[in-house]
Amino acid sequence: MSDKFNKIYNQSINNPEEFWKNASDDIFWFKKPTKILNKSNPPFYKWFEDGTTNTCYNALDTHIDKGNGKRTALIYDSPITGNKSKFTYEELKAKVSKFAGALKDQGVIKGDRVIIYMPMIPEAVIAMLACARIGAIHSVVFGGFASNELASRIDDSKAKILVTASCGFEPGRTVEYKPLVDEAIKQAKHKIEKMILFQRTGHEVKLNAPTEVDWKEVVSNAKDTDCVELSSNEFAYILYTSGTTGTPKGIVRDIGGHIVALKWTMKNIYNIDEGDIWWSASDIGWIVGHSYIVYAPLFKGCTTILFEGKPVGTPDAGAFWKIISDYKVKSLFTAPTAFRAIKKEDPEGKFFSKYDLSKFESLFLAGERADPDTIKWAENLLKVPVIDHWWQTETSWAISSNCTGIEMMETKYGSACKAVPGYDVKVIKSDQTLAKPNEMGDIVVKLPLPPGTFPTLWNADQRYKENYMSNYDGFYQTYDAGHIDEDGYIWIMSRTDDIINVAGHRLSTGAIEEVLSEHQSVAECAVLGVADKLKGQLPIGLIVLKAGVDKDNETISKECVQMVRAKIGPVAAFKVAIVIKRLPKTRSGKILRGTIRKIADNVEYKMPPTIDDPAILDEIKQDLIKSNILKSA
Ligand code: COA
Ligand code: AMP
Repeated sequence: MSDKFNKIYNQSINNPEEFWKNASDDIFWFKKPTKILNKSNPPFYKWFEDGTTNTCYNALDTHIDKGNGKRTALIYDSPITGNKSKFTYEELKAKVSKFAGALKDQGVIKGDRVIIYMPMIPEAVIAMLACARIGAIHSVVFGGFASNELASRIDDSKAKILVTASCGFEPGRTVEYKPLVDEAIKQAKHKIEKMILFQRTGHEVKLNAPTEVDWKEVVSNAKDTDCVELSSNEFAYILYTSGTTGTPKGIVRDIGGHIVALKWTMKNIYNIDEGDIWWSASDIGWIVGHSYIVYAPLFKGCTTILFEGKPVGTPDAGAFWKIISDYKVKSLFTAPTAFRAIKKEDPEGKFFSKYDLSKFESLFLAGERADPDTIKWAENLLKVPVIDHWWQTETSWAISSNCTGIEMMETKYGSACKAVPGYDVKVIKSDQTLAKPNEMGDIVVKLPLPPGTFPTLWNADQRYKENYMSNYDGFYQTYDAGHIDEDGYIWIMSRTDDIINVAGHRLSTGAIEEVLSEHQSVAECAVLGVADKLKGQLPIGLIVLKAGVDKDNETISKECVQMVRAKIGPVAAFKVAIVIKRLPKTRSGKILRGTIRKIADNVEYKMPPTIDDPAILDEIKQDLIKSNILKSA
């Protein structure tokens, strides 16, 4: 290995302003920034403060200005409906500019919030870019969330407009969005002014004018609309993510830093050049979808693929290979769970052998730890590098990765490779001292964070400061724990809060507990993520009933499962609620969740010295065996 990566990494840490100033020269600015980093008010850092730009201009117009308007910007492929379409940069710009006009006609002005609750169709991307064009702040809500979650996002963002579609399609079921949206609007205290609904062919729904308007109608009356000039530190979007309580956190992204950082990552992390064909198999409702279906590939001038399907069952375990082969995809980014699903269905790779993947160069995995078995299986099959990299909604781009565009590094199975330029990653032990190589602790990043990361939380500066920036002075707390080895490789081992990762989807067990506690028969409960071969983790609930409840346990369990589906959404994948007699606690009353999880995962555990009654652990074990969570020895 040469020293190229180390040199670039060191420059980024020793002289971040020069490093990011150079990267910023690669994007379009109406007014180039002269102030690169404002450090005067930590932990609220400002990148490119006096620059002005526009996210949509950098995603679309700039490529047309450079003569690349005929290049394909977006390919939509929906094995679920059989629909396919392609949009050149010019065509996508035309659609975005019209929808931007339609938003303006509905009263949206710069700084207004627009909620986008849509399936994976081109209109969802068009709506995001149209917001960016006029300086509206979008907040995309994943379609697998229930009305209650949508309502809490409407209330927190105080959105003016909600954009949706008549339905989405999941294998074997149609997701009717309109009733979900109606219910959310009813539940929300803040009243949105208009709903714009895209009618999917053959699935039209009735609209109640004048507050509910049809996408096609508003677009047909709209004028083309140009990009507005925005200050670098205005907000591009809010993306809500699970926090340590049931209240989701509104991660915000500022405009200039986001464009600079994401464009930089395409070459340096992913080795992707302008004109390359790139696919991120995620959903626009998650950060991976925001950054790598929509923004980064378009900033770079690539062709990006929007896939409305699943790795298996749409129609088979060859769906991914078909897309890669049909469109000559250079690199794919997805979650390990997708590959585990394919491996489970087609362990020998019989489907794989039907397709030509000669143009395919690399596979990137993130969202949860990529287990070595899955990485090795994928490497054997694909014969290309398979790269695990680590990041969070908060950062919007990878904190650690093999930076394949700078220098390919050796793989260490189970590690998410090294800190990416811009991130000074450290491990801090419980005694607040820095860990030595291989010592476990909390993983933190030295402030200031690089551009593109979250400058604050929506309307919650204090929460940002207290939650993330206060526990370790001068560092961002990632809430991941692990170690860094002697070669600088980062090993992410667990979360230190209540977040679990279910099929690459980030969920809060605290939020599920809040729902279970609302059941009238439930006295107390604990929700924990237990290991699952396909989804990585699955939430299970342990519930203790109030005295005198005369309903049978099975009915109560079913009601609890139904409540979580209705209040959080199917995405929680919450299928198991076990009625138990009592929960193990410390003498001070703290539920021993970690110990229960170890029992459920069948791994060794130490009897906690502070436990109030050790016999409870055996009771729990028997309950887990009865519920098939745990096999009897
Ligand atoms: N709208 C509505 N419902 C949705 C949805 C959406 N956009 N996405 C998922 N759901 C539903 C599913 O239909 C399922 O409902 P069900 O309980 O009625 O079956 C539930 O939410 C759980 O979904 P999921 O966890 O995705 O499980 P699955 O069994 O449907 O699929 C995988 C499992 C592995 C195939 C799937 O998770 C997958 O493709 N993952 C790829 C990686 C990914 O997208 N990661 C995101 C971040 S990178
Ligand atoms: P999200 O905000 O949904 O992207 O989830 C972020 C969290 O997912 C991180 O804090 C980690 O706990 C986990 N995560 C993401 N990528 C990885 C990875 N490559 N290895 C281990 N954990 C990961």
